Amino acid sequence: MTTHILHRTIGPALPVAVSGHGAIIRDAEGNDYIDASGGAAVSCLGHGHTDVLAAMRAQMETLEYAHTTFFTTEAAEQLADDLVAHAPSGIGHVYLVSGGSEAMEAALKLARQYFVERGEPRRTRFVARLQSYHGNTLGALAVGGNLARRAAFAPLLVEAHHVSPCYAYRHRRPAESEEAYGLRAAAEVERKLIELGPETVIAFVAETVVGATAGAIPPAPGYFKAIREICNRHGVLLILDEVMCGMGRTGTLHACEQDGMAPDLMTIAKGLGAGYQPIGAVLIGTHIYDGIAKGSKVFHHGHTYIGHPIPCAAALAVQQVIRRDNLLDNIRRQGERLQSGLEERFGNHAHVGDIRGRGLFRAIELVADRGSKASFQPADDIAGRIKRAAMTRGLCVYPGRGTADGKSGDHILLAPPFIVDAATIDVIVERLGDAVDAALAEAKGGT
Ligand SMILES: Cc1ncc(COP(=O)(O)O)c(C=O)c1O
Repeated sequence: MTTHILHRTIGPALPVAVSGHGAIIRDAEGNDYIDASGGAAVSCLGHGHTDVLAAMRAQMETLEYAHTTFFTTEAAEQLADDLVAHAPSGIGHVYLVSGGSEAMEAALKLARQYFVERGEPRRTRFVARLQSYHGNTLGALAVGGNLARRAAFAPLLVEAHHVSPCYAYRHRRPAESEEAYGLRAAAEVERKLIELGPETVIAFVAETVVGATAGAIPPAPGYFKAIREICNRHGVLLILDEVMCGMGRTGTLHACEQDGMAPDLMTIAKGLGAGYQPIGAVLIGTHIYDGIAKGSKVFHHGHTYIGHPIPCAAALAVQQVIRRDNLLDNIRRQGERLQSGLEERFGNHAHVGDIRGRGLFRAIELVADRGSKASFQPADDIAGRIKRAAMTRGLCVYPGRGTADGKSGDHILLAPPFIVDAATIDVIVERLGDAVDAALAEAKGGT
């Protein structure tokens, strides 16, 4: 098939997706795939959910669009009310955008403007972590610690300094407890702030549970509580990126609820609109909002499609379905089943070093050698091979490369829809098991 699209990779043609229902996507050849990653942890209610479609249709039939410099809309106001009502403590307002990178960009600029309005213009730097991803716009890319994605654009990026991720599988010392490791990882953030001069730093930025770059890595217990205290001590804001791990994915609406703390600003996106519409948001601490409200009253930012009523209506319907159908319970239940299924299938596998995650956000990390945790050679493209082998078996999983250190390492991320049942979880594990073995055999054979 000829194409006039600049696809993500210029190469072999992709299957054409034509329909979706529940956890299944069907292509134009009639092949069905279990969507076990929701794309990139997006489709959290599966495909074709009638309640969300009805809410979108109703909004389209009343008002398709109104520019936010002229009007607000009921759809946007209701979504904002809903998000604030269920937000972590201290969050009083939201800023509605069209995706994750836009949310991050807005959060970074809001944090900077907050300090400008407070008379602290010397704060110009961000501190963030390696092995993270915050989006592909220049600001979001600057704070991201995904070396491969940054490489070509590094000279164009705003100043960001990176510390180690909180990545127990690779960084915890053999005799160290999880808690002691978490405190050690947090202490590195404080050392970095002191080295830079905390009065020059705007914010520390982190994914609560790391997603695409390193594969569903939950923080060590106590890590984020310690980070919260460090940020408070030095007057630095804490921005949590829950674009991928938020909105129920880990079994609580916000991943940070499980870490017993709250950020100053938090970004959400993928699961917010569940893929029915492009939408993202920044959840804003009252003190940040007040800083602007008592200052210039103008956030010097904005896009044509912010607060678009159709995505807002879709996102509100998604939130209502999650509550009405008790989906957080299902996420926790099926998440446990997925973890134990993966442990049963891969617990003794020679090339699976770690099985991790929270809720329906899980990953396996592939290694050449379990003892030394040595990664495969990047040229072997183990993660890519597994993705392809899974697709031929009717399963979509999300591959990641550079897991260990930005260059080498492979993982497979799973993020099935919140509506998934036990039988489907078992099929996901079975097909993934077959795909991993087939991909490794293929790599060994050098084909
Ligand atoms: C944690 C995180 N932040 C930000 C983004 C960027 O979101 P988007 O692709 O919607 O711009 C992503 C996307 O994968 C993400 O995983």
